Amino acid sequence: MYELWIDLLQLTLPERTERCLNERLYGAIRDAILNRTFNAGARLPASRELAAGLGISRNTVTRVFDQLMIEGFVETQIGSGTYVADVQGSVEKSATSVNGISAAPLRLSERGAALASHSSAAVKQWGAFMPGVPDVRLFPHARLQKRVARVLHAASPGVLSYPEQAGSPVLCEALVKHLRVARGLQCDPSQIVIVEGAHQGIDLIIRLLADVGDSAWLEEPGYWGIRRLLEINGVQAHPVPVDDEGITIPKQSTPPPRLIFTTPSHHYPLGAVMSIQRRRQLLAYARQHQAIIIEDDYDSEFRYTGSPVPALSGLEADAPVIYVGTFSKTICPNLRVAYMVLPQALSDYFQRAYLDVYRGGHTATQQALGEFIESGEYAQHIRRMRGVYGRRRDALSALVEARFGSQLLSKEASDSAGLHLTLRLPPSIDDADLARAVAQQGVLTRPLSRYYLGQSLSRGLLLGYACVSEDEMIQPFDVLAECLAKVL
Ligand SMILES: Cc1ncc(COP(=O)(O)O)c(C=O)c1O
Repeated sequence: MYELWIDLLQLTLPERTERCLNERLYGAIRDAILNRTFNAGARLPASRELAAGLGISRNTVTRVFDQLMIEGFVETQIGSGTYVADVQGSVEKSATSVNGISAAPLRLSERGAALASHSSAAVKQWGAFMPGVPDVRLFPHARLQKRVARVLHAASPGVLSYPEQAGSPVLCEALVKHLRVARGLQCDPSQIVIVEGAHQGIDLIIRLLADVGDSAWLEEPGYWGIRRLLEINGVQAHPVPVDDEGITIPKQSTPPPRLIFTTPSHHYPLGAVMSIQRRRQLLAYARQHQAIIIEDDYDSEFRYTGSPVPALSGLEADAPVIYVGTFSKTICPNLRVAYMVLPQALSDYFQRAYLDVYRGGHTATQQALGEFIESGEYAQHIRRMRGVYGRRRDALSALVEARFGSQLLSKEASDSAGLHLTLRLPPSIDDADLARAVAQQGVLTRPLSRYYLGQSLSRGLLLGYACVSEDEMIQPFDVLAECLAKVL
């Protein structure tokens, strides 16, 4: 047996490599045990014999034996030596039940299976005409990175450890001022929770405010992402039609929803601005039925005619509204920084839950972002991008009009905002098929029908213009126009 160990290890001890002798001997013995060359119960040669047989130091062998013992590959019996442990047997026993029936294969939970049964996020996320994606090339990344580096250089342990509050205080302070000026929203820093994207914030809202089986209103058509979050949390999504004044208020809804998701400043994806009358009605409805409105203010910074529309949250004192804003459209989606402004009565619960569930972090990035806002550079970047996107919007509209006339484009002034245009198509056209055909030629669009939870005759294509310059849009538009001309 002793010779067998020596021969085998000499054969399998890999040739001189970068790895040290220690690691090579450890690997050779471990592999021999795992592939059953040495079976459970086999006695290992004494360390002195093995060292002599392999021509290596005894220290090396004892270090390797110690490591194998710590990991459970071998065991020692005092006074009688070192033996191969029963590693295979314990694996087999755990994979097989007592009466020989195989254990259940790996499987998803029912919730997981429902979620994984389809996916709504696009496979490709960058290129003409991906809706909702800003031109990430035009943000002064280097300037923000310099600030991050400066913060890290001077960082106190508090900035580098687990955070004590859900968001950098510097960013929360900066947002309070920014939201007052830009969104007409008065709040205190303690009401702000910084999250890693609006998606994460909305997930936390659903978990903290709705129970399984509760219902939530979703705008119809509306953002698919919220639908997915409701689904995974077992909350019923109830589609509520949107007209040109925003989300409508159903005459009867029994029981009333716990949550109402809305995009009042710029309906997603069709663009209506919620009228003041509808805002008041919605707030009154929410107060009366103890529902909470979630104001998803995803891209209100980009409005090309008139003034920015103030936030619904700022309309009445103590409004039952959670405001959700994001840097995904103003800076870049990959930054994963968004924020929630909570009613005072809820903010402590959200702070605690956020730190327990997600732990938080990225404080240096958040602090740098706060300083970037304070310095005025953020507002300057938004002003610049408003000009860039406005011109791109005009250029894409002009291409559509030149080729198809004006009937495919909405002419409402309220719709002169955001990062995409919606081409309205006749109900006879299968917009999902059309989007697939266009995608096969490398051009990205999203079919309007996909934004409906229920059945709808509305057909169209969402075309994002923000991430393509005027020059870059000409060739993909030709591709799109060719495909469209075939079905119109
Ligand atoms: C309407 C709407 N809400 C929320 C989001 C999500 O934002 P975030 O990237 O911060 O998760 C998006 C992203 O496209 C959106 O279109």
